[in-house]
Amino acid sequence: MGAIVVVGAQWGDEGKGRVVDWLARDAQLVARFNGGDNAGHTIVAQGHTLKLHLIPSGILYPQAVCLIGAGVVVSLDRLVAEMDELAALGIDVSPQRLKLSAAAHIVLPSHRALDGAREAARGKEAIGTTRRGIGPAYADKAARVNLRAGDMVNPAQFAARVAEGVRAHNRRLEERYGFADVSPEVCAEAHRAYAERLAPYLTDGSALVGEALARGQTVLCEGAQGLLLDLDHGTYPFVTSSSTITGGALTGLGFGPRHVSRVVGVAKAYTTRVGAGPFPTELLDETGDRIREAGVEFGTTTGRPRRCGWLDIVILRYAARVNGLDEIALTKLDVLSGIERLKVAVAYERDGERCEYFPAEFGVEALAGWRPVYEDLPGWHEDITGARTRAELPPAARDYIARIESWVGLPVTFIGVGPGREQSIV
Ligand code: IMP
Repeated sequence: MGAIVVVGAQWGDEGKGRVVDWLARDAQLVARFNGGDNAGHTIVAQGHTLKLHLIPSGILYPQAVCLIGAGVVVSLDRLVAEMDELAALGIDVSPQRLKLSAAAHIVLPSHRALDGAREAARGKEAIGTTRRGIGPAYADKAARVNLRAGDMVNPAQFAARVAEGVRAHNRRLEERYGFADVSPEVCAEAHRAYAERLAPYLTDGSALVGEALARGQTVLCEGAQGLLLDLDHGTYPFVTSSSTITGGALTGLGFGPRHVSRVVGVAKAYTTRVGAGPFPTELLDETGDRIREAGVEFGTTTGRPRRCGWLDIVILRYAARVNGLDEIALTKLDVLSGIERLKVAVAYERDGERCEYFPAEFGVEALAGWRPVYEDLPGWHEDITGARTRAELPPAARDYIARIESWVGLPVTFIGVGPGREQSIV
C-alpha cells in the first residue's frame, strides 16, 4: 500500500524495468515520473521482445493503470509507435489503461535536432547524450516556453504552436550550426494528428495518484536513469536534465512524502555508465571487456557499448542517503560468475583523506583527485542462473551479497541471476 518508489542507484541501466516488473503485479497504478525516450527497457511479451522507452512496463499487467507523469518529457511520435507495437501484440493500450498527465512536456523533433547539433559541435567535449532532445526540451520547460501535453485538447491550436516552436528552434539551429532540417509545416500536421489521437488519454496525473493513494491502493513510481545522472546530485554536467531520485517522484507525480511506504534502489552487481564523465572504478582491461560481453552491456536506446567497472559502495551509500533507500535490488549477479577475484570499492582516498559517500557536489574536477580503496573478494565459478534462494548460491556469492549489505547498511531484497523473469531470488 502507499507509494513504492523505484530508482536507479548508479548511472542508469541498473535493470529497473525488471524490478518494476516484479513489483507491478501488486500495484494498481504504475507511474513514470521523469526523463523521456532517452530511457529504455526491454520487455518480453507474447514471445516477442520489444523495447519500451516511455510506456511503463506495468502495461503488461492487466490490473494496472499506467501513467506518464508530469515530470516526463514526451516525444509523441515515439509514444504513438510504442502504443501501436503493444496493440499489435494484443495488449490493451486504451485510455482506460494508459494515461498521460496534461502537465507532461512535449519533445519536438527540432529539440532532437538541437541536441544532436550541440553534441556534434562539442566534439571531444560532448556529454554523450542519447540525442533524443531531452536537454533542449527540459531547457524550454524551465524557460517557460514549451508545449505541454494538455495543449493537445485543441489540436488546431496545438499544431500552430508546434510550427511556431519548430521555427524558433530552426532560427537557433541556423544561427549557431548553419542548418535546420525539420519542416515546421510537416511537423505541425503530424502533431495535429497525434493530438487528435491522444487527447482522450490526457488526465490530471496528480489527482489520479492522489485518488489511488486515498483508496489505499499501491502506486508504483518508476524512475528512469539513475542517481549519478540526476541534474542536481549527479556528476554535472555529465548528467541528464531531470530529477532521477526519490524527490523526483514527488515533484514529477505531484504527491507528498508521507505517502511513500518503500524506496527501492536498483543496482547492478558491478557498475556501468554510458556517455562521458567520471567513473572511478572503471575497468579498461580484459575484465571490463568480459563484463561487457557477459552482461550484454550495450545501450537499449542507442546501442552504444557501456563502460564497465567494479561495484562501488561509495556510490551506493550516496544513493541510500539522497534517496532515503529502504533496500537494494541487486541485478545481474550471474554476470560476475567465473571471475577469479572480485574487487569492490569501499571508500575513496585523496592525500591521506578518506571519504565514504560519493563527493558529487564540488564537481568533476574535484572528483578526479579521489582514488578508490578496494577490498578484494574471492569469486565463484559455478553457474548461478538456476538459484532461486540465497542458500542455493555458492558461499562466495552469498558472501559478496552479505558484504554489500554490511558496507551499505541496507538489506538486499532482490537478486537477479539471469535475464528471465523467474531468474530471481526475492
Ligand atoms: P540525455 O539524457 O540524452 O540528455 O543524456 C545525458 C546523459 O545521460 C548521457 O551520459 C546519457 O548516456 C545518459 N543517459 C540518458 N538516459 C540514460 C539511460 O536510460 N541509461 C543510461 N544512461 C542514460
